[in-house]
Amino acid sequence: MTDLRIKIGDITFSNPVFTASGTFGYGTEVSDLTDVSKLGAIVTKSVTLFPREGNPPPRVVETPAGMINSIGLANVGVERYIREMIPLYDNIGTKVIMNIAGTTLEEYCDVLEKVEVISSNICGYEINISCPNVKKGGMQFGVDSSMTEALTAEMRKRTERLIIMKLSPNVTDITSIAKAAENGGADAVSAINTVVGMSIDSETGKSQIYTTYGGLSGPAIKPIGLATVHKVYQSVNIPVIGLGGITTGLDAVEYLLAGAVAVQVGTATFRHADAGEQIINELHQFGDSKSIEKISSLTGAVKTYTK
Ligand SMILES: Cc1cc2nc3c(=O)[nH]c(=O)nc-3n(C[C@H](O)[C@H](O)[C@H](O)COP(=O)(O)O)c2cc1C
Repeated sequence: MTDLRIKIGDITFSNPVFTASGTFGYGTEVSDLTDVSKLGAIVTKSVTLFPREGNPPPRVVETPAGMINSIGLANVGVERYIREMIPLYDNIGTKVIMNIAGTTLEEYCDVLEKVEVISSNICGYEINISCPNVKKGGMQFGVDSSMTEALTAEMRKRTERLIIMKLSPNVTDITSIAKAAENGGADAVSAINTVVGMSIDSETGKSQIYTTYGGLSGPAIKPIGLATVHKVYQSVNIPVIGLGGITTGLDAVEYLLAGAVAVQVGTATFRHADAGEQIINELHQFGDSKSIEKISSLTGAVKTYTK
């Protein structure tokens, strides 16, 4: 049987399939829909310093080529997250990665510090510097290498837990942002967040999203995610976590071949809450059918025409 275990920093995960931020709540609401203990890890939705209602509706629309959302980081805020969600992680049976968002460097730091001073079994933080759906912050960091490096370094000073910087595809050169995260001391980067998109109702002439633009996700963005992961993999020496449009085990295999050590499953979980579990089973089947000893041997093994 193929060994699905993978390592990021000092942490060993039972398999490389995680949930993607914003598509699996805080990890505590879904236990009657799927066996979360089977997952390699859960990545929570973004948590900010203060509670946020998010953007007004309509904030989600399905298009023939994917889903567009502009949730605007609706969340309960860090204080309530600490009070109500973190205690539930004691019995969750899998690793939890908390996703943090903010509008200023100080806000990111404050959220992380508040969690660092309490005891919790969160194994790491994914830092969202790539949200396309908020007016201030988020993507301001993700499009600027020096801001990315400075933010990563501030996070690094404050924790020994894993730091994963989540990158945006909505930039000219993602490799320079990935390198900045590495220079700042990140343990890993994850890519990609959603791709800026728009949807219009031709009958009414109205935009289908309140904020006009939103983030496209789902199978339509998989080729963009794969290319991004491959470019980032070649430019940094820290692990890359790949996501964007993964719905099957074979999609996950493609991401591993492109250079990912692990993957995250987002939009697919809206159709099947147990998509992650199915992908793990399909990874086992793929590995066994090809007699692969360790799934980690696939990382970066794509055969390209140039080398
Ligand atoms: C409804 C929705 C909400 C999301 N919320 C967040 C979020 O709070 N923080 C974040 O970093 N990414 C968020 N994302 C982005 C996903 O984590 C992921 O990067 C993206 O959807 C691409 O993966 P997918 O095609 O598998 O969905 C959200 C995506 C969707 C569809």
